[in-house]
Amino acid sequence: MQYYALAALLAGAIASPLPQDLDWAAIDSLEPVPSADIPVVNAAAAASTVSYAPAQAATSVAAAVQADPTDVTPKVKRDNSACATTPTSDDTDSAFTSNGDFSTAANGASAPAGYVQVYQNQAGSSQGIYGYMGYSVLPTYDVQQCSENCDAVLGCQSFNIYFERDPSVDPTSSCSNPPSETVIKCVYYGGPITSDSATNVGQWRDDFHVVIAGSNAYVNHSITEPDGYSGAVFLGNSAINAPLDCNGHDTYMGVKLFDSAPFDANLCATACSAQSDYNRAHPDSDGYFQTCQFFNTYVLYENNVAVGQYCSLYNETWAPSYATNDGQYRGDDHYTIGYSYSFSNSTGGADEPTSCS
Ligand SMILES: *[C@@H]1O[C@H](CO)[C@@H](O)[C@H](O)[C@H]1NC(C)=O
Ligand SMILES: *[C@@H]1O[C@H](CO)[C@@H](O)[C@H](O)[C@H]1NC(C)=O
Ligand SMILES: *[C@@H]1O[C@H](CO)[C@@H](O)[C@H](O)[C@H]1NC(C)=O
Repeated sequence: MQYYALAALLAGAIASPLPQDLDWAAIDSLEPVPSADIPVVNAAAAASTVSYAPAQAATSVAAAVQADPTDVTPKVKRDNSACATTPTSDDTDSAFTSNGDFSTAANGASAPAGYVQVYQNQAGSSQGIYGYMGYSVLPTYDVQQCSENCDAVLGCQSFNIYFERDPSVDPTSSCSNPPSETVIKCVYYGGPITSDSATNVGQWRDDFHVVIAGSNAYVNHSITEPDGYSGAVFLGNSAINAPLDCNGHDTYMGVKLFDSAPFDANLCATACSAQSDYNRAHPDSDGYFQTCQFFNTYVLYENNVAVGQYCSLYNETWAPSYATNDGQYRGDDHYTIGYSYSFSNSTGGADEPTSCS
């Protein structure tokens, strides 16, 4: 995972044609977002979370430094001394997935204040989500507690809570189907959980079947406005696709991409301001330069798997009615947009030049 060499990006003449097609060259140079590696655990295993330092991340963007990979998922080591007990006859995968207590807990949970429910009582956990930030094991199926944990993890924007049928000891050839134990996981993401993402329905460990039940997901829809920017508009699954301005001039100032989760609007704001600074210092021969007054940032997905945070810069504010790009195909690959927000410079945020009206 690395930030772009921003200086190089800023210097590069940004002359993308209209409309703002996805920039394949930029997308191709993204590092793949690491997929969440949520270990199957026994309940005693330590939780792990990924820390995020927003100020530091923003500084890294401005300074174009390398960010450290942050996945600190622990390798769970466990005591395998006992496969003494054999599972009881009702300790099966199907008994687990049809357990009425689990569906009752999931269906009975209401969304914590400030959160919107994305899905309920699914038989899978989410995958392909931007910004895996770790998980906790909870003693009870407590959605409120999971949301409070998420609030305490800096950068956490959504969470997934579910029951998982885990082996009580590591399955081995001599103990291929040990008794199960139920682990309640609360998983944190620094990006939005999407409604069709509950596709991780478990796995086989030797003869032991890890399965999932009562999976619920919630997204925090409030977003912090970056300093100096305001007028946040939620554009959902669409990106701004601005036409030329009324004088026939291009207001699009190019793209920045971030693959270092979590999703953070401030990274795009920092790029916007840094682009203005750069341009101010490098006017053209007539002394003219564009300043960045507006940006649109969102999570970009390739075939429903998050690939990065996209950030498009403009020198004037475009209304949400221009958010008409809901994705593009490249060959068979479908690129789509989620969690799209726009912001304007709070002192400028210029609109169309008045000379046209
Ligand atoms: C939601 O996100 C906002 C902005 O990051 C944060 O201030 C807030 O604590 C989060 N939680 C809730 C319940 O709003
Ligand atoms: C945006 O940039 C274009 C092209 O340089 C320019 O013609 C236009 O006046 C700028 N718009 C604003 C609001 O500054
Ligand atoms: C907003 O625009 C004004 C005028 O161009 C500029 O002085 C200011 O630095 C901009 N704010 C940010 C946060 O870039």
